[in-house]
Amino acid sequence: MLLALVVSVSAGCGGTEASAGPELIFRYADNQTEDYPTVKAAEYFAGLVEERTDGKIRIRVYANSELGDEISVYEQVQFGGIDFARASAGTLAEFVPETKMLQLPYLFTDANHMWRVLDGEIGDELLDAIGDSGVTGLSWFDAGARNIYTRTPVHSLEDLAGMNIRVQESEFISEAVRLWGAVPVQLSYNDVYSALRTGKVDGAENNWPSYESTGHFEVAPYCLLSAHFRLPEVQIVSTVAMERIRAVDPSYEEVIFQCARDSALYERELWKERETESESLVREMGCVVTELSDGEREAFRLAVQPMYDSLSDENRKLVLRILES
Ligand code: GCU
Repeated sequence: MLLALVVSVSAGCGGTEASAGPELIFRYADNQTEDYPTVKAAEYFAGLVEERTDGKIRIRVYANSELGDEISVYEQVQFGGIDFARASAGTLAEFVPETKMLQLPYLFTDANHMWRVLDGEIGDELLDAIGDSGVTGLSWFDAGARNIYTRTPVHSLEDLAGMNIRVQESEFISEAVRLWGAVPVQLSYNDVYSALRTGKVDGAENNWPSYESTGHFEVAPYCLLSAHFRLPEVQIVSTVAMERIRAVDPSYEEVIFQCARDSALYERELWKERETESESLVREMGCVVTELSDGEREAFRLAVQPMYDSLSDENRKLVLRILES
């Protein structure tokens, strides 16, 4: 009888503890390091969600591609194996054709132009389109402008001829690199450092914080300020997770969206600081940074003009709306 009593008391205690803890525990994937702006913003997002759902929803952030590379993470979010993630527009476009145009080189004149587009009607339409890929688009993150960096000196477009340049697993991005006379090599982000170190590729392209945090600058110290892409990043949630969230409390869906928007504003602030810090750091470490003259930049832009000339009617309409924003 005593044993029965002990068992029933401890079961009762367990019940009380369970109701005080989270009702749902989710996983959030990012391929960057813990101190990177997108990961810090993901932690911030997780904190907001926990606070605004009175602890009922807990999100654990996995950085450093712990849950897989971006393409496989996106697929897992589609099937509900991973609940939340942050992905680059280069990955997104492989799953959501409507967002392909974000990968056009020299589409945005600067960050303000990009935010006018993404914070406006077009950004909302593209987030909605993500729904067709079986996941829900939550908010846009900043990822700055991308430059080309190489193992050996590159000063102009001509110097790129025949070089193997690593790109994301995207045909559209590959096409731009081909038009610059180089050879695109599609590799996952995690494989770039060793490919650069061993000479499997001659160069790659990315934003300042990625160039610095991955250590790519150590093995490819020549950076050409081409500023050719401004690929934003997106926060996504699986449809399965969203259904489970609504089942706990229908109002939590909007809570998730609001927390995602708030964390996106936070990320933009972190991004500005980190971009400057990373640039100074790699310069201090002795990287050779080459500015492009207006004429040289125009040569880069003109080389990819065929991508603009061959757009379908639908894509052309979208690109014109973006250019006019
Ligand atoms: C950026 C982006 C990553 C992406 C990477 C890449 O660093 O933040 O999400 O994977 O570019 O070039 O693959």
